[in-house]
Amino acid sequence: MAVYKSITELVGKTPLLELSNYEKKHNLQAKILVKVEYFNPNQSVKDRIALAMVEDAEKKGLLKPGYTIIETTSGNTGIGLAAVAASKGYKFRVYVQDNVSKERFQVIKAFGGETIKLSEEPVVKEALDSTGGDFVAAIAALREKVLSKQKDIFFVDQVSNPANPAIHEATTGPEIWEDTEGKVDIFVANVGTGGTVSGVGKFLKSKNKNIKIVAIQPGPNSLPSDENPEPEEITGVHPFEGVPAERVPQTMDRTIYDEKFEAETIDAYRAAREVAKTDGILVGTSSGAAIYAATELAKRPENKGKTIVAVLPDTGLRYLSTNLFNEDYVG
Ligand SMILES: Cc1ncc(COP(=O)(O)O)c(C=O)c1O
Repeated sequence: MAVYKSITELVGKTPLLELSNYEKKHNLQAKILVKVEYFNPNQSVKDRIALAMVEDAEKKGLLKPGYTIIETTSGNTGIGLAAVAASKGYKFRVYVQDNVSKERFQVIKAFGGETIKLSEEPVVKEALDSTGGDFVAAIAALREKVLSKQKDIFFVDQVSNPANPAIHEATTGPEIWEDTEGKVDIFVANVGTGGTVSGVGKFLKSKNKNIKIVAIQPGPNSLPSDENPEPEEITGVHPFEGVPAERVPQTMDRTIYDEKFEAETIDAYRAAREVAKTDGILVGTSSGAAIYAATELAKRPENKGKTIVAVLPDTGLRYLSTNLFNEDYVG
């Protein structure tokens, strides 16, 4: 019988789709194949690492029945973890920043998870206040002064957990290799934790060192600056070059990529709006950035006839309260 017993069996093996109509419209001379990660059970690429980090901790004896799983993001990883925790019978708690949207809280709670604002922990609030709201300092205070005193917990920490890039090396990379029968020339992915680009990049390079790996970071207009402290950002995507090394997640392998590509939010929005109309897929902002980057690569004369694979991390349905599909917003 083709019956699954757990959502954990539905993670991965996502489809690779050629953007056929989009390619024709732009008269592209290279193929763009997109790995549509919203086919995961909770609609994002992060379902892969959520399951992998939990099962790795179970194997290592760091997570046992009755324990509480803890993470500091209510983004896609938080949602994936909340669902995996529910399915496996663990409690789940997420510490979030004050400005997190109501929808995010609702999703975590729907899965039975608990949400706590970072500023509700006095020592964390102190760290936030004394550093002008520095998230990294807040997480360090949370780990050292709050979590270190708690029993029966497992702190996932996707930005330092080696099971994050490892699952992309073990599944996402091989899926791309098999589905293209090894005919892939360029791989494009966003960098947040760097897990995707590092893991897939490592696998693909082990198969063929000539495969070019392109890592996306936000462009200068899409990052907070003195002139523009609150720009429209590409959710989940962070700079890995031009920032102090200690600000780059340990899960990002800075030796893996051949090219850094900078994408601006408005270009990501335009690409996501366009593929919804040409090919009927509704994807999130970082997916738009990946499609934009793939398009620019496809236009280069040296890439004529090549195959470009881009990862689309999540569904556009998660962004209905943003300007992503607000066509009046043009930057
Ligand atoms: C929507 C979205 N896109 C892209 C990324 C980047 O993926 P990774 O963390 O594997 O670098 C993330 C993760 O932070 C994300 O949530």
